[in-house]
Amino acid sequence: MRFGDTLPPELDHDPFKAILTPRPIGWIGSRSAGGVANLAPYSFFCGVCAKPNMIGFASEGLKHSFANARDRGCFTFSLVSSGLVQHMNVTSSAEEEEVDEFQLAGLTKAESVEIDAPFVAEAPAALECVTISATQLKDRFGALLDRYFLIGEVVQTHIRDEFIRNRRFDTEAAQPVSRLGYFDYATVTETWELDRPDPQIL
Ligand SMILES: Cc1cc2nc3c(=O)[nH]c(=O)nc-3n(C[C@H](O)[C@H](O)[C@H](O)COP(=O)(O)O)c2cc1C
Repeated sequence: MRFGDTLPPELDHDPFKAILTPRPIGWIGSRSAGGVANLAPYSFFCGVCAKPNMIGFASEGLKHSFANARDRGCFTFSLVSSGLVQHMNVTSSAEEEEVDEFQLAGLTKAESVEIDAPFVAEAPAALECVTISATQLKDRFGALLDRYFLIGEVVQTHIRDEFIRNRRFDTEAAQPVSRLGYFDYATVTETWELDRPDPQIL
């Protein structure tokens, strides 16, 4: 089967998000113009590059996280571990700007060192980021879309002590949760190594 812009009769929903899996969840922390803490999950989220380390997320519609990170020039990422899934889900509800989603979800705000944005204290790891690009996306015909992409450079990394083992971040212990398609999620519970044909620097 193949299809372009139109869904074939064999499928009920666009399988794009189910094919593009697993996607890490960018749990984005920011502050509004009025100083209220904001927290929301974004699975159109990715690592962009390393050295310098950069991450990016896409906002479908002009949402608070994008506007805050663009206007205040910074944001945080917190890792969603399996024990934090319900909290993450609560923070996905559409709230007014004056609602603090950390409070709403019963999470502890940890204050950043380099930037003015909070992160989730309960998360195994978190990143402080300075916004370097915030763009409105266009489609292939050049038409502006109600879709936005923001990239930030990581300026500070936080790891809770119990998630460092053998001088590495212990991904298995952190049990990151990823987004699949539909209402599906997956948890990383097992990892394995694969050597590359060429020598690599970690
Ligand atoms: C797991 C998960 C992933 C999500 N990923 C995205 C995404 O990539 N882009 C987006 O615009 N909304 C996404 N959402 C919905 C937003 O989290 C939701 O619209 C939220 O209210 C936005 O909050 P904000 O306006 O405070 O940024 C996601 C929701 C969940 C539960």
